[in-house]
Amino acid sequence: MTENILEARDVRKSFGGVKALKGVSMSIRKGEIHCLAGENGCGKSTLIKIVSGFYEPDAGEITINGTTYDRITTAQAIREGVQVIYQDLSVFPNLTVMENLAINHQLMAGGTLVNWSGIRRTAEAAAALTGLSVDMTELVENLSLADKQLIAISRALLSNAKLIIMDEPTTALAKKEVSRLFGIIKRLQAAGISILFVSHKLDEVFEISERFTIFRSGENVVTGDTGGLDDRKFAYYMTGREFAEERFAAGAVPGEPVLETRALTLENGFYDVSLTLRKGEILGITGLLGSGRSELAKALVGYVPADSGQILLNGLPVRIASVVDAVRHGVACVPEDRLTEGLFLIQSILDNIAVSRWDALSNRFGVIRRREVEREAAAWIRSLSVATRDPLLPVQTLSGGNQQKVVLARWLANDLKALILNGPTVGVDIGAKYDIHRIIRGLAGRGLAVLVISDDLPEVMSLCNRVLVMRSGRLAGELAVKDSTTEELAELSMRE
Ligand SMILES: Nc1ncnc2c1ncn2[C@@H]1O[C@H](COP(=O)(O)OP(=O)(O)O)[C@@H](O)[C@H]1O
Ligand SMILES: [Mg+2]
Repeated sequence: MTENILEARDVRKSFGGVKALKGVSMSIRKGEIHCLAGENGCGKSTLIKIVSGFYEPDAGEITINGTTYDRITTAQAIREGVQVIYQDLSVFPNLTVMENLAINHQLMAGGTLVNWSGIRRTAEAAAALTGLSVDMTELVENLSLADKQLIAISRALLSNAKLIIMDEPTTALAKKEVSRLFGIIKRLQAAGISILFVSHKLDEVFEISERFTIFRSGENVVTGDTGGLDDRKFAYYMTGREFAEERFAAGAVPGEPVLETRALTLENGFYDVSLTLRKGEILGITGLLGSGRSELAKALVGYVPADSGQILLNGLPVRIASVVDAVRHGVACVPEDRLTEGLFLIQSILDNIAVSRWDALSNRFGVIRRREVEREAAAWIRSLSVATRDPLLPVQTLSGGNQQKVVLARWLANDLKALILNGPTVGVDIGAKYDIHRIIRGLAGRGLAVLVISDDLPEVMSLCNRVLVMRSGRLAGELAVKDSTTEELAELSMRE
C-alpha cells in the first residue's frame, strides 16, 4: 500500500448559508504531484485553508503523516510540514529578500538574537533549489511577480516543507514563467516533497500531475490517474455537462475573401502583414507575447491604425482610421480586456447589449424604443444562454464568461461582415468557454468571417480551421488545423 502524506475525510464547511464543502474527501500520496481542479467557487481554496489550519471545518477529519486531527491549528500544520503558497503570496514588499526568507525563523526566535549567518546559508540552499537568483538585499517590492512566488516557495522550504500546496499559482504568470515554475515543482518532487497543485486549467493538470481530484459545487466528482484523462472527460467532470464536437468542421469550399491586408505595417508593432480572411472561416492568429498579434488586431479595427499598407473589404480598399470607421464597414472587435475596454460595467446587461444599436432602436426623434430594446436583448440573452436572473442587473454581477457573452451579443446585434476576437476566453470557466466556442462556430456557419487572436494553442486548434503564426512582428507560418497537432503549432510559434 502506498503511504499518504495527507488524507481529508468527509470535510464540511459552510459560510452562513453557503455550503462551500459538502463532505469532500481526498488523499495525497507521499512524493506525488496531485492536482486539485474544479470551476471557480467549487471549494478548492476552502479545503486548503482547512488543511493548513486557517479555517476550522464544521465536520470531518484530516490525517497528516499518520496523525489525525478533527481540527488542526496553523502551528500544527506548519509542524507537520504543510506549507501553502497563496495567490497573494503573502510576501512583505517593504522587506528585503533575505528578511522575507527569514521571517518565520525571526518570529520563532521571539526576542532572542537571530542567527543571520545560519539563515543566510539555509536561504541560499533553498534559493538554489528554486533557482531564485536575485540579490538577497533587494527589496521585494522591486521584484517581478514570478520572483516573489519563488521567494514564497523558498520560504516554505526553509520551514521544512513536506507538502507544498499551491493555490492557482499560474494565474498571473506568463508562459515562460509557468514552465520555469513547473521545472521547480519537478525538482521539489525529486527532493522528496509532495505537491498539491490547484488549477482549473486542463493543460496544466496534464503537464504537471500524476493524479488529480476534481470537485464540483463542494462535492467530490472523481479522483484518478492523469494518464487516463482527456479534455472531453475533464470538461465533463468540471461542469457536469457533455460537450459535443471538438474541432471545427470547415466548409468544403472556402468562401470569398472578406477582409484582406496587404503589407500592413505598424512601426514597433508588426511588419508587412498580408493575409486573407474568408467568408465562413475561423482564422486563428497566434504567437508569443510581443509577437505583434494584439497590435495587428487593434490595427484591423482602427484602435491603433497601421502606418502603411492596405486593408481591403470585399475586395475594395478601405480606410480604417478609427473604431467608428471599422464598425461602419461592418468589422467589429471583442477586446481582450473586456472589463476595461468592452463593457460599461455598472450599466445593465440590457443596455450593454443595445448600446451599439441605439440608432436602429430609436425613433426618428432619437428617442429610444425601450420595448424593442428589451425584446432584442431578451432574445440575445436566450440564444447565448447568458446566465442571469434579470437583464436589468448591472453587467458586473455576471461571471467573466457571461460578461464575454454580453460583449459578443452586443456586436452580433449589428450586421457584421467580419468579427475579430482577441483572447475570446481568457480567464473564463471551461463551461463558458465551450459556450463561447459554440457561439463562434455558429456565427461562422452562418457566413461571418471570424478572426481569432489567441495564445491559447489548444483553443486555436479546436476553434479555427486555419492558423497563422506571428513571430517578432511578422507572419512566420501557416497551419491547416485538420492535419496538424498542437505540438507542431507550439514548435512553430516558439522557433527563434
Ligand atoms: N470567507 C468566506 N465567506 C463567505 N463565503 C465564502 C468564504 N470563502 C469562500 N466562500 C464561498 O465558498 C464557496 C467556495 O469558495 P472557494 O473555496 O474560494 O472556491 P474555489 O477556490 O474553488 O474557487 C464559494 O461559493 C465562495 O463564495
Ligand atoms: Mg480559490
